[in-house]
Amino acid sequence: MEDGRKFVATVKGLTKSYGATSVLKGVDFSLARGEIHALLGGNGAGKSTMIRIITGLAGKDGGDIEFRDAADNPLSDTEGRSKVAVVHQELALLPHLTVAENIVLPRFPNGLRLFDRKRSWRQAHDALAIIDREFAGTSLHELVGDLSLHQGQMVEIARALSSGAELILLDEPTANLTALETERLFSVLRRLTRENGLAIVFVSHRMKEIRQIADVCTIIRDGRTVVDRAPTRSLSDTAIIEKMGQITARHAEGVGAAHPVPRSAAAFADDTLVIRDADVEITLAAGMILGVAGAPVGPQSLISALVGAAKARRWTVARAGWPQAFTSPRQAARSGLGFVTGDRAHKGILGNLPIIDNVMASRRILRHSVFTSGRERAKCLDLVEALKIKAASIWDLPDTLSGGTQQKLLLARWLGLSSRLLVLEEPTRGVDIGTKKEIYQLIRQMAASGTIIVWWSTENAELLEVCDRVVAFDTEGRCAGVIEKQDLSEDALANMTGMAA
Ligand SMILES: Nc1ncnc2c1ncn2[C@@H]1O[C@H](COP(=O)(O)OP(=O)(O)OP(=O)(O)O)[C@@H](O)[C@H]1O
Ligand SMILES: [Mg+2]
Repeated sequence: MEDGRKFVATVKGLTKSYGATSVLKGVDFSLARGEIHALLGGNGAGKSTMIRIITGLAGKDGGDIEFRDAADNPLSDTEGRSKVAVVHQELALLPHLTVAENIVLPRFPNGLRLFDRKRSWRQAHDALAIIDREFAGTSLHELVGDLSLHQGQMVEIARALSSGAELILLDEPTANLTALETERLFSVLRRLTRENGLAIVFVSHRMKEIRQIADVCTIIRDGRTVVDRAPTRSLSDTAIIEKMGQITARHAEGVGAAHPVPRSAAAFADDTLVIRDADVEITLAAGMILGVAGAPVGPQSLISALVGAAKARRWTVARAGWPQAFTSPRQAARSGLGFVTGDRAHKGILGNLPIIDNVMASRRILRHSVFTSGRERAKCLDLVEALKIKAASIWDLPDTLSGGTQQKLLLARWLGLSSRLLVLEEPTRGVDIGTKKEIYQLIRQMAASGTIIVWWSTENAELLEVCDRVVAFDTEGRCAGVIEKQDLSEDALANMTGMAA
């Protein structure tokens, strides 16, 4: 037993197949009390599948899962699982119940009939206040169905943290959080492990976070454990990416070479886009990449105006031949607007159409055709390869794909097209580290060919890496200013967005 600490859960030789696809081929994974354990692997490696099996949401084919109590006695599966809480990658909240009800519900397995309302509400409030005091003060009685993705994520985390569980599995909990909320979450996690001896499993595709929070890591690749309980410090970034199987020949020779720059966009070379509200005016020349930073309220109002989704009350968008609002997605696409939504589950993925239809959707609109051709299949396969989309066939439905793989489908829709303006809402949410680099490169190439890119991200490291300038919003949603490339830094972003810890 390591450091005298007892393992709370041990997974040995876990196997799982879906039809002909073998997802887990003998995974080992063990968790000790008092540790924050990063579970790492590329998109589709099997992380969420294993988490679903540990919590009992999915069955296993073979292998063993064992839970032990503080005195090292084995627990039955039911007993063990009652000590496990989980934050799922795609939110699993009940939309017709309130925030407070969602948070306390797991503690009332027989429903909400017999419980101390006042006390429970207070518990829900306190759990939420850990991450965002103001949100806790205003949201308890709101219906979860009315919340944004970002607020839903906070409710889901609060529910897990306040569950009294001894093992908490967090499947990409920070994907919808801002830098400040992530900081707060991390300090709670540290406290829970140090003071209360909880074990925490943390899944993330953000290298910086992994290094900040996880003492130990396990890496899985193609359904097998390739690194078993290594101290995170002992592995370099490159070693981690390599172990995940993400350094390919193309990385080695520089990704750029493989993707020719589309030519037609050069027609927009003299094109500028001016966006303004009462306080700022931002002029974007063809080929610029504008980052958007800050808590979601501000970025979302700017993006709504840009994509013409709502009547743009605050922002005006001025450009030759560009309408203030679009009457349909078709009109938007044909005017040269590309848009990757941040809400892939509800607004992005076409759940009942196969991968090829998802990937080709915007190309079909642009060429006025819904028919599949041999050429289209070839293009789809190219994109699948470029983004390492992990699927058995392009005719599979997207709901069998991993979270990050679904995200890649949304991006593929617009990559390589000669849009005049491409608006991206958290385009790399859940995308694995290796592919992220590749995506940055592909988007830069689109910019180089004249497309103006507007890129909202809550991952500051990403904005620093890809943007020419960044417009920052404060936590109230007001525009706090524009930072030019030479002045961009983590600190500058943190200060401007009001997210300095
Ligand atoms: N119900 C299902 N039917 C068929 N295949 C499935 C099903 N659920 C998962 N898979 C497959 O299992 C593999 C692992 O998926 P999983 O969601 O566990 O990956 P992951 O490591 O969590 O990836 P990500 O980082 O993208 O979230 C994928 O190839 C996926 O397509
Ligand atoms: Mg997953």
